[in-house]
Amino acid sequence: MRNINWAVALAALVTIGVFTVSLKNEGRQYVYGRFVDEDHSIRATIQHDATWPDFDEPLRDLRLKSLNFLHTTDTHGWYLGHLNQKQFSSDWGDYISFGINMRDLVESEGGDLLLVDTGDRHDGNGLSDLTFPHGELSDLVFMRADYDLITVGNHELYEETVSKYEYEKMVPYYGERFISTNVEYLTDSGEWRIFGNSTYRYFETRVNGYKVLSLSFLFNFLGGNSRIRVTPISEIIRKKWLTDLLTYYSEEMPVDALVVFGHIPVTRDWEESLILHEFLRSYFPDTVIQYFGGHSHIRDFAVYDELSTALQSGRYCETVGFLSLSNFTDLQDSEARAQFTSESIQRRYIDFNLHSFMHHSKKDTISEFNTRKGLAVSKDIEGIANELKLGDIYGYVPHNFYMSTANYFDKSDKKSLLRFLEEKILVQLEPKLCSLKDRQPLYNETGENSRSVIINTGSIRYDMYKGPFTRNALFTVSPFSNKWKVIPGVPRKMAARLQGILNAGAYILSSGGPSTSLLSPHQEAINMKVEEEGETLQKRGELQQTIMDTDKGKRLSFGYTTRDELGVHGDDTIHRELPNFHVPNVIQSFEGGAKGKKTPLTDVVFYDFIESHILWALKIACGDDTELYESLARQSIYYNDCAKEYNVGHLLKLYVEKNWSERGSELDM
Ligand SMILES: *[C@@H]1O[C@H](CO)[C@@H](O)[C@H](O)[C@H]1NC(C)=O
Ligand SMILES: *[C@@H]1O[C@H](CO)[C@@H](O)[C@H](O)[C@H]1NC(C)=O
Ligand SMILES: *[C@@H]1O[C@H](CO)[C@@H](O)[C@H](O)[C@H]1NC(C)=O
Ligand SMILES: *[C@@H]1O[C@H](CO)[C@@H](O)[C@H](O)[C@H]1NC(C)=O
Ligand SMILES: [Zn+2]
Ligand SMILES: [Zn+2]
Repeated sequence: MRNINWAVALAALVTIGVFTVSLKNEGRQYVYGRFVDEDHSIRATIQHDATWPDFDEPLRDLRLKSLNFLHTTDTHGWYLGHLNQKQFSSDWGDYISFGINMRDLVESEGGDLLLVDTGDRHDGNGLSDLTFPHGELSDLVFMRADYDLITVGNHELYEETVSKYEYEKMVPYYGERFISTNVEYLTDSGEWRIFGNSTYRYFETRVNGYKVLSLSFLFNFLGGNSRIRVTPISEIIRKKWLTDLLTYYSEEMPVDALVVFGHIPVTRDWEESLILHEFLRSYFPDTVIQYFGGHSHIRDFAVYDELSTALQSGRYCETVGFLSLSNFTDLQDSEARAQFTSESIQRRYIDFNLHSFMHHSKKDTISEFNTRKGLAVSKDIEGIANELKLGDIYGYVPHNFYMSTANYFDKSDKKSLLRFLEEKILVQLEPKLCSLKDRQPLYNETGENSRSVIINTGSIRYDMYKGPFTRNALFTVSPFSNKWKVIPGVPRKMAARLQGILNAGAYILSSGGPSTSLLSPHQEAINMKVEEEGETLQKRGELQQTIMDTDKGKRLSFGYTTRDELGVHGDDTIHRELPNFHVPNVIQSFEGGAKGKKTPLTDVVFYDFIESHILWALKIACGDDTELYESLARQSIYYNDCAKEYNVGHLLKLYVEKNWSERGSELDM
């Protein structure tokens, strides 16, 4: 039980008059930030009270060892914390205090602590996406964290301006701690340089003087801008400079551990990870190789061999990964090796909230926990959020809507975000031209045809939680600003088959279809888990039973119950399980024509970016009638190219303003 006396804290704040922060705009604005008294000893929040975690929740402890890691990945700009989810309500300032406190604690017990980040710091939150380049301000927030190892993800590489900013600001800031082994950047002077300070880092840890060789890899990413070059792992392992480097360090230099971190999933289903491991193992047969990964946004832990494991620490500032190692420097004899994974490693997925942060860093009160730097960062975030008006409230979401925690295929499941988008949101789309205004006639929707709007679910990034729907939420559910196209007048039967064709097969389209996936890597990972585990109610029941049996008699809330290669007890917070359901590749709205009737023809509207998939499916739907297919395909035109005004986030906003503007609309579900 944490000793936070809120009555006292609030009384103190009221007396010193800090509690004057107004709810601006007639109460329709979230107020960001935490407010401190004059000597920074007490901090409180004027936010929605839901942002405080439950300080009674049962936790599994960390076991500090001689070498310890904190790992973040795929933060995507969520440095404000999750305002409608108390489980993930800490902000980046809290995380910074956590890192500082953990370093003190670990070092006081004679251990080393290394902080690692594996990229994707943009796209997915208003804090990063409302500035140009994306991350202009949120990177400055991120950079207050004292990382020992840091690298790039694919979201640093789409937009040239983002890559440039990252390369010119963040790389020099972190210096030798920012590395990349297989990503290069074309500088203004036309030279290809490594996207980092170097391709590797060899260093000694501060306390124990462990000699660490570190490398960093991005998965085989092809979508980078023209100033980016990614050499896939399968090719880079044949480069002489890399084999020379590994030969030198394995033969001439002491190496106590390899730390290989990068933006690549750790699952053994990801072929590149295994190729890399086999390659590194051939140089270092007896050395511990510790991997840290990312990109698929899940919590995961894999055992590659008896001296090598891999941790992946979720997404969106929901998780801080913890890993500790002991007795890893002398593993020659087979008994020591055989016991290593079970005896000398601990992994934990820490929920991103103050209860977890304070407990693990052994701070009993919030004033002991807070650090000057952490508080200053919280204040900065508050300033940026207010400047970007992220707190503007458009309405109140009545209950949680989930992507994969609700069952899209069960029409009665009111919590399905995908079903909601299909039925209420996509139907609000209207034809409109912005930049193509003078170059193409506006599609004339006579209302005579039915209409179907199709989006790929990969464009939906996050659940929508009960509570205020703010300007920030425009970016969290779907940060993309896609344009829409239409194929007018598709015969009804064929239009109706498109979704089925696109959703057939497991999670990747069968061979012959376009090779890019309509799902996000995260959804693919979820679907894979659903399939592997059968995800039957019985299986889930068993898992829950295992968790309950070992953690008897405690009050549990819903949350992550991660199953990884070490079992089901990796999460720090003991939760009740949330189910996972299969996520389809695409969803499709349907509206009848004039007077709501089904009509012989349907206008099919979709993101331009999935046009090749739509045409592929249409071709199949048309079967032998290739003439029909070709005449339809030829008619594909832009329907709405006003990407900002008509992205899914803005369509949601329209709905929220119309239907959920009153607070009382919140239900308990
Ligand atoms: C690497 O970092 C060191 C230390 O910050 C710095 O002196 C050096 O110039 C950097 N080199 C490159 C290529 O960025
Ligand atoms: C690790 O090393 C310590 C100190 O040398 C020893 O007491 C402990 O038994 C070792 N643990 C394992 C799992 O080998
Ligand atoms: C759209 O088509 C209908 C029916 O052909 C026509 O009456 C109407 O004037 C057209 N509208 C525009 C804006 O072209
Ligand atoms: C939402 O608002 C629209 C437009 O005002 C209205 O047609 C619709 O019935 C409303 N839906 C609900 C569920 O209130
Ligand atoms: Zn990501
Ligand atoms: Zn990624």
